[in-house]
Amino acid sequence: MLPMPMPTPCSGRMRSRHCAPWQECSRCQTLLAMGRGTIPATLIPGDGIGPEIVGAVCQVLDALDAPFDWETRQGGMAGIEECGDPLPQATLDSIRRTGLALKGPLTTPIGGGYRSVNVRLREEFQLFANVRPARTLVPGGRYENIDLVLIRENLEGLYVGFEHYISIGGDQHAVALGSGLNTRAECRRISEFTFDYAVKHGRKKVTIVHKANVLKALTGLFLETAQAVAKKYAGQLEINDKIVDNCAMQLVLNPWQFDVIVTTNLFGDILSDEMAGLVGGLGMTPGANIGEKAAIFEAVHGSAPDIAGRGIANPTALLLATALMLDHVERHDLSDRLRRALTSTLQEDNVRTRDLGGSASTQEFARAIVKRLG
Ligand code: NAI
Ligand code: MG
Repeated sequence: MLPMPMPTPCSGRMRSRHCAPWQECSRCQTLLAMGRGTIPATLIPGDGIGPEIVGAVCQVLDALDAPFDWETRQGGMAGIEECGDPLPQATLDSIRRTGLALKGPLTTPIGGGYRSVNVRLREEFQLFANVRPARTLVPGGRYENIDLVLIRENLEGLYVGFEHYISIGGDQHAVALGSGLNTRAECRRISEFTFDYAVKHGRKKVTIVHKANVLKALTGLFLETAQAVAKKYAGQLEINDKIVDNCAMQLVLNPWQFDVIVTTNLFGDILSDEMAGLVGGLGMTPGANIGEKAAIFEAVHGSAPDIAGRGIANPTALLLATALMLDHVERHDLSDRLRRALTSTLQEDNVRTRDLGGSASTQEFARAIVKRLG
């Protein structure tokens, strides 16, 4: 695919912003990425801490001479501010063209109003598999040597949002009703994806996590289908299953018993945050949303409004997401360099952001990694 020409959102003058490889339009503040690589990719700075950590990632990618030719597009609250839409058409068109995106977190207001933009993006591009690794990078925490991968079904389950209220008397919200949806085809696809992933990455064991004792149809179908698919992998992988509440407790008691976990949408969301807690918190875990025609890489965490704008966010999760993106485009040389520089910065230079007990700002942390790459 040929690199796309630089977009021009309005006639405002362009000015540089930080030392990131992008420019900002002085009139509409749209950020236009300046990547000069050969692989077209969409960059969504996102909300809250998003632009801060995306800025840090861009500096590191610049130092790595990463091959991406960025098209910067907006989403979330930034999309609403720019053109009244949390998922602007220009953003969708760009991802459709590039099939590859790096995304900062997007804010979804709780309660009425907009549907989660993250969920809409996953549906729009049929990103059926959400891969979330959690690995110890900073020794001396509560748990050592954690190396887990959670694979979450990303399109179905309770996330389909089949919900409504029933009004009784004067109370419009007297009853809330919600139902989920799982299909055998999707349960099969995510199971095959997981077992193939485990074999390809030299993993030994996969645990199927469910609540088939209570949600007998919804997660019973998931368990039944995953177990049927598992038969094809006999001799290659050890495959067992656990009920989700027990799994949550076992992850705290003895996380080393797990290797790869595959589960439904909501359980995957919850357990992946729990797994982030095993390796130092949400600043440490990346995610890849994989579909047949597109892949979107992001941090597991959200827009962290409590620390946004203070320059203290940890960009590690998004840097690790970028490493997954480099793996995805088969640039393992660059992802290895990035992971090595990140590990040296955290472990040998002891440069860490506040969430890890350090005092480095987002920018100082990014500069330390760039120095390591030097
Ligand atoms: P959150 O992940 O934004 O924050 C939870 C806690 O972790 C906060 O105390 C925050 O300061 C801390 N934290 C998160 N990332 C950090 C980082 N990189 N460095 C240091 N500390 C970090 O979750 P919350 O508060 O539940 O959600 C805030 C917003 O983000 C909501 O609108 C939610 O819908 C959205 N969200 C978006 C996601 C996405 O775009 N993929 C994922 C999760 C939430
Ligand atoms: Mg989550």
